[in-house]
Amino acid sequence: MVTAHMNKTFAKMALWFWVTAALAAVAFAAGRAQLPDEPGKKILEGACTACHNLDRIASKQYDKDSWDGIVQSMRDKGALVSDDEAPVLVEYLAKNFGKPQ
Ligand code: HEC
Repeated sequence: MVTAHMNKTFAKMALWFWVTAALAAVAFAAGRAQLPDEPGKKILEGACTACHNLDRIASKQYDKDSWDGIVQSMRDKGALVSDDEAPVLVEYLAKNFGKPQ
């Protein structure tokens, strides 16, 4: 019975697909949830995702001085962060992607 066999294989594949998709969705939601809703988040998502995604940032752990330097250099590259926003963003980055103490 070729069709019965194929149905079983297909069912397995479909199950595998949904489990994988569900796990990815959970992982994605968890990654997002780690970012607290503070004013810095808006600036980060608005100004820092034009050229690369947030993974580029979230994978780093820098102290405040280093983040200050990075934000400065990203602004030089063209990131749209105002003078008022910069300190808020640096504070947010240092807090959420800071060096472990
Ligand atoms: C105009 C485009 C652009 C914008 C906007 C931008 N970046 Fe970047 N960013 C880059 C480029 C290009 C690189 C890679 C530069 C390199 O490897 O030297 C990079 C790399 C980085 C890195 C990795 C640096 C490292 O030391 O490994 C971090 C962290 C980063 N950006 C943070 C930010 C933050 C925070 C913002 C928002 C303020 C931002 N970026 C906005 C272009 C941009």
